[in-house]
Amino acid sequence: MVKAVALTILTFAGAGFIPAPADAAAAGPIIIGHRGASGHRPEHTLESYRLAAEMGADYIEPDLVSTKDGELVARHENEIGDTTDVEARFPDRKRSKTIDGHAVIGWFTEDFTLAELRTLHARERLPFRSHAFDGRFAVPTFDEILDLAAALTKELGRPVGVYPETKHPAYFASIGLALEPKLVAALERHGWNTAGSPVFIQSFEAASLKTLRPLTPLPLVLLLDAQAAPLTDARLTEIAGYAQAVGLHQRLIVPAGPGNRTLPPTDVVARAHTAGLKVHVWTLRNEAVFLSPSYNGHPEEEFRQFAGLGVDGIFTDFPDMGAAALGRMPATRAR
Ligand code: G3P
Ligand code: CA
Repeated sequence: MVKAVALTILTFAGAGFIPAPADAAAAGPIIIGHRGASGHRPEHTLESYRLAAEMGADYIEPDLVSTKDGELVARHENEIGDTTDVEARFPDRKRSKTIDGHAVIGWFTEDFTLAELRTLHARERLPFRSHAFDGRFAVPTFDEILDLAAALTKELGRPVGVYPETKHPAYFASIGLALEPKLVAALERHGWNTAGSPVFIQSFEAASLKTLRPLTPLPLVLLLDAQAAPLTDARLTEIAGYAQAVGLHQRLIVPAGPGNRTLPPTDVVARAHTAGLKVHVWTLRNEAVFLSPSYNGHPEEEFRQFAGLGVDGIFTDFPDMGAAALGRMPATRAR
């Protein structure tokens, strides 16, 4: 065990965070690789998802949007100007649209066939993250991600689940490209639309979850951002009527005040549990631009705080940090 912990320290020393102490609890919340290991690789690529699992993520998280020909692909948004080389390759495909009430200018997945999207290359969106992998990876389909999760499950000798999110589902339905039937069909093809499969399905849109409810026995997760209406007990009970979990912005659980310094936790985790809902929190990140100064530059302290507050799952761009914070060993060395 001592040797194993020493290897953890060695493996992650280059990532710039402090490993967990040797006696940290092995159990704890599930680690959800947010857009893969998006702190280390361009988000929503097979390489990002693979690295997340290798670093200790229990689930990999694809955000799903549709192509023109109705194929599900993983992108954070249907606008892909910031995360691919689409501008250089399809300069004449730029469009202005209104998506969920917001004016957006750029390149949209629904204007490209899958064959066209497959010619693009992913790139890192954030300027302060590594761009060493820009131009090297493709935009993956949901089918490929499910294949990868199955392969990683065999390779790593433990379940690697998927945690897909329907992105702008009402918008996609409005243009004849509804996401939900395609999502369920893909899970069916891979044998994962069954109770007990390692899958959570998430959305910010309750209507999308209500559409999914009769189509799948899998647990559904309603996402709520920091500006969400108050989570009264009555509201939690209403959500529990169609969902099994809430995915909460971290500030709904640990608020922050002036200077982004943290304040005492709310009681929402306990009240959600009382309503029968699991609680998953998003999104923990290492960089100072995201991390409250209250953690003194130690993201693993934030991770442990949420674990200690009893959340059931934690989304992070840095699954290596999460695994170290919980004292878990990754299945293979981080690259
Ligand atoms: O799905 C949880 C979290 O990822 C929600 O935010 O915008 O990163 O998809 P977003
Ligand atoms: Ca997401």
